[in-house]
Amino acid sequence: MKPTIIVYRELPEPEKVRLQSHFHIIEFKELSSTDDPQFIEALKTAEGLIGAGLPLKADVLDKAPKLKALSTISVGTDAFDLNYLGKRGIPLMHTPTVLTETTADTIFTLILASARRAVELDKFVRSGQWQSSIGPDLFGSNVHGKTLGILGLGRIGSAVARRAHHGFGMRIQYYNHSRKAEAETEFDARKMSLDELLRTSDFVCSVLPYVPETHHLIDEHAFAMMKESAFFINGGRGKTVDQAALVNALEQNVIKGAGLDVFEQEPLPADSPLMMLDNVVLLPHIGSATHETRDAMARCAVDNLISALNGDISINCANQSQLEVLV
Ligand code: DGY
Repeated sequence: MKPTIIVYRELPEPEKVRLQSHFHIIEFKELSSTDDPQFIEALKTAEGLIGAGLPLKADVLDKAPKLKALSTISVGTDAFDLNYLGKRGIPLMHTPTVLTETTADTIFTLILASARRAVELDKFVRSGQWQSSIGPDLFGSNVHGKTLGILGLGRIGSAVARRAHHGFGMRIQYYNHSRKAEAETEFDARKMSLDELLRTSDFVCSVLPYVPETHHLIDEHAFAMMKESAFFINGGRGKTVDQAALVNALEQNVIKGAGLDVFEQEPLPADSPLMMLDNVVLLPHIGSATHETRDAMARCAVDNLISALNGDISINCANQSQLEVLV
């Protein structure tokens, strides 16, 4: 008998067909909550889960006694409790490589759109306010030749740095727990403390993951250290930033502007004070959301689940080190 798996995010048809040849599938197309009684029932028999966008912590996974592997269609793993999975010996597979360049494109979109006020000026044109050449009150800021400070120089941060350095002649500096010798050679990147980076960057770009140590790492104090002319870009995780402090920094012109793809609460509530501000560009968490990349992520996640349920977690396992401790 084929093992049962739960699919909790809509997958492209070819990927579903591939899964069907290996597994008995219980599919949830529009699952918005893990309290769904049918989902809870399905957990009783599931050996694998594949999907994205739902928190699957201990309270949920305790209801899945047969679970052997998880496959998330994302690079981020903050929807899971890695310690819990480690204790149960459950591998969490993810999609770290296929979305790097697309997410870097999104982050660069935010850098350019916020500095050149692209969204604000689009509204200006559409609302019929373009009656004569715009004046300095609507001018933007240069991107080329400026200093880009990257928080978290992993794959995506490095792809942003590559664009910035080679394409826009930007100086690259970074804050990261380990030194990145390759980046230092390729982009002439300088490693520095968080405070120094905040004080000296024209663009502070966060690609940090959300872990307890990064909770509200960027707070009121951090915004106060940034240049008045600086832009803050977040393409990592919303909870790494104290959003109320960011709103205040934008309202009080402590910094010049921001570009955000991620938020403390997603979707962003309609009454968020961010909605009222012209000096922030807001995107609905679209880092990897192109047709090509989302298809590649689904393909990768399906490969990952098939491998993991066959006992092979050598590629794309996010918690391999915790599992190895158990062996
Ligand atoms: C990721 O892959 O982690 C993206 O941020 C989507 O959640």
